[in-house]
Amino acid sequence: MMAGVVLPGWGAEVKTLPAPDMTGGMPLMQAIAQRQSKRDFDPAQAVDDQTLSEILWVAWGMNAHGKRTIPTSRNLQNMALYVLTPTGCWQYDGPTHSLSKVNDKNLIPLCERQDFVKNAPLHLLYVIKNDRGGQNHVGSAYQNVYLYATSRGLSTVIRAMIDIPALNRELGLPADYTAVVHQCLGWPVK
Ligand SMILES: Cc1cc2nc3c(=O)[nH]c(=O)nc-3n(C[C@H](O)[C@H](O)[C@H](O)COP(=O)(O)O)c2cc1C
Repeated sequence: MMAGVVLPGWGAEVKTLPAPDMTGGMPLMQAIAQRQSKRDFDPAQAVDDQTLSEILWVAWGMNAHGKRTIPTSRNLQNMALYVLTPTGCWQYDGPTHSLSKVNDKNLIPLCERQDFVKNAPLHLLYVIKNDRGGQNHVGSAYQNVYLYATSRGLSTVIRAMIDIPALNRELGLPADYTAVVHQCLGWPVK
């Protein structure tokens, strides 16, 4: 069962992810020095499950202390992370490190206000509860993803140019929850 928030559709179909490799990667100071938004994505090169696992884990997983990879105000853990795909939306559960299918909708077009978005093979959507610290929590999560992407040579950009009311409606979010930003990822064109 998901710790933090439970949103509509949870548990319809569950996909277990491979364990993240919590070792190695680029030295932290080097990753911070090289972080940048990159908008070139090779649409032909999918993000494999191991890489997806590690992206979700750095954003919102459970770490070696049994804590989230990011801090949350009063440990509310009041954030949710979705993966949008052409065949449906999935919500990530940190404690079980799995994805749970929320619906069969393609909501990527609701995030496509810039041309490069359609080339990205991986789409994350951050959702917060409007009580305390939500935007801050999302910022911690997407920065972790930026640093992981830098370490792995992935392109990524965080984006606010999305249709928030339509996303909230299509995800069936309760009134006190809202989508806030979309993060697309993929391998750069060679
Ligand atoms: C909250 C937030 C919203 C953003 N929204 C968009 C966006 O909708 N589209 C986009 O292309 N970049 C977006 N960006 C990325 C910024 O344009 C980018 O971070 C900025 O130009 C600095 O570049 P850098 O990340 O390479 O340092 C957003 C960044 C933040 C932090």
